[in-house]
Amino acid sequence: MLDPNLRPYELNGPLVPATASMVSAWDIPDHPPTSTELDGAEVSARVRRGYRLFMNTSVEASRLTPSGMSCGNCHLNAGQRELALPLVGSAGMFPEYNRRAGYDFSLEDRIVGCFMRSMNATDGVDEDGALPDGRVTPSPELDEIGALADYIRWVSRNHSEGENPAWRKQNRIPPEALIPIDELDPIRGEELFTTHCTQCHGADGQGVQIGDKLAGPLWGPRSWNDGAGAARVYTLAGIIRFMMPYLNPGVLTDEEAQQIAAFITSKPRPSYPYKAQDYQTEPRPIDAVYYDREEAARGR
Ligand code: HEC
Ligand code: HEC
Repeated sequence: MLDPNLRPYELNGPLVPATASMVSAWDIPDHPPTSTELDGAEVSARVRRGYRLFMNTSVEASRLTPSGMSCGNCHLNAGQRELALPLVGSAGMFPEYNRRAGYDFSLEDRIVGCFMRSMNATDGVDEDGALPDGRVTPSPELDEIGALADYIRWVSRNHSEGENPAWRKQNRIPPEALIPIDELDPIRGEELFTTHCTQCHGADGQGVQIGDKLAGPLWGPRSWNDGAGAARVYTLAGIIRFMMPYLNPGVLTDEEAQQIAAFITSKPRPSYPYKAQDYQTEPRPIDAVYYDREEAARGR
């Protein structure tokens, strides 16, 4: 945890700036364990619990997911970093229409979505939808989900309802820079991956421990499943473009980020078993490549 009095850069509003590096990795401006804005009240305890769940998800919420990741792997600096999927101010934007599901999502529904897909909570589910012993399907009324929602509400406390924060949903490659999926080259992507990523994520993509940080598994059984946003080529490119490489974000071009995303999404990952129920009311995005591949395989 960085001492806020020794912070060698300006915060960008409430957020850690996207450009900072080594020092900023441990900076959590709104830090529940030490914040004097929280007290002995039950809701304060829930915010602190939510924060622990966010940062150490597969340990603190082991009954919900066996994944090798935490929420904080993708939402950097506990969801308080610019251009790294920040969640500050997000709470007031819910309920919000969800295109994949075709109905309005509460904040809790949205968290459940990240559990089911990004955290692969469906791992090991059988044909009847039953989970292995000791595991529970994430749902909005569970304690863990409520505590995570309370943490996100707390970091959103200075924002009014319906006020869309300027930094929200900015991990996007600009439309004019998007390259058609079939023109992307996973082999070129692999070369770039070897140059820029293997140092921390390993040649096998499974992640290397660096101090107290663990770069997550980018594919394979412990990674996010193929129904996750990060399994879409352009969504993943938008994440990589602005928040990786970890100590030097922003060095990749829009093109390079897309080539690397094409390589990572060419790899096997857990199958989300309910993909057929997605995009019933809205068209399926063209970068949802695992959906296409599974349909093609079934058609054969
Ligand atoms: C594999 C990466 C990944 C992991 C792990 C992950 N998320 Fe997400 N999350 C995303 C992406 C991608 C989005 C969509 C962001 C966007 O639209 O810009 C998102 C969106 C969200 C949103 C909606 C934000 C908004 O403003 O609309 C919430 C809330 C959220 N995640 C919470 C969580 C929680 C809680 C966890 C842990 C249980 C988690 N996420 C784990 C990738 C991830
Ligand atoms: C200097 C080390 C380092 C380098 C180089 C690096 N990463 Fe990461 N990466 C990390 C760490 C550490 C995390 C987890 C962050 C956390 O938990 O705070 C991470 C997280 C991620 C995530 C979010 C999901 C996950 O699996 O944790 C993606 C996606 C990702 N990196 C992709 C890449 C790509 C692609 C490259 C190459 C362009 C890259 N990274 C280069 C250290 C690195």
